[in-house]
Amino acid sequence: MTRADVPWVAAIEAASFTAPWSEAAFASELDLPFSRALIGHPEGRPAEVAGYVVWWRVADEIHLLDLAVASEFRRAGLAGRLTRRVLEDARASHARLTTLEVAEDNVPARQLYQRLGFSVVLTRRDYYGPGRSALVMERTVIAEGH
Ligand SMILES: CC(C)(COP(=O)(O)OP(=O)(O)OC[C@H]1O[C@@H](n2cnc3c(N)ncnc32)[C@H](O)[C@@H]1OP(=O)(O)O)[C@@H](O)C(=O)NCCC(=O)NCCS
Repeated sequence: MTRADVPWVAAIEAASFTAPWSEAAFASELDLPFSRALIGHPEGRPAEVAGYVVWWRVADEIHLLDLAVASEFRRAGLAGRLTRRVLEDARASHARLTTLEVAEDNVPARQLYQRLGFSVVLTRRDYYGPGRSALVMERTVIAEGH
């Protein structure tokens, strides 16, 4: 992800989440030494953004912080490809585990992460508001199915 990508990324973010990160938030991620951000382009349109992922390397852990794909590019495998790149970084940096948080009612994301070897380790009740819990999911580097 570069600065030129940020307006595209923020537009996808705003359309995907009820409490979206701002353009400034994405821009500041680009300056953090422990933050990584990757985008996927639509086929043949390298100036545009179809989806993105942001993650942190924190000690011996990888924290997957943000992932979204524009609605017109969903169900084509992009989120899977982006998440696999995060898992490759986990392996390359010898991280002990990769962790993330997902809304309990976010079935598409839960399916995606489960298929990539993540398991639910904790429920944070009402984390996103009354009746909207968050699940913490983790994947150790030795998990199968990468
Ligand atoms: C979740 C999200 C990132 C998935 O992106 P995507 O590019 O469509 O996902 P992929 O095509 O790589 O799908 C990989 C797997 O995830 C699961 N999946 C994806 N979308 C799904 C859906 N709508 N329903 C059920 N499972 C779904 C499936 O197992 C899918 O594999 P399959 O297509 O072979 O069945 C996308 O729906 C999105 O941006 N949602 C809004 C933002 C969001 O919730 N981000 C995650 C926050 S933790």
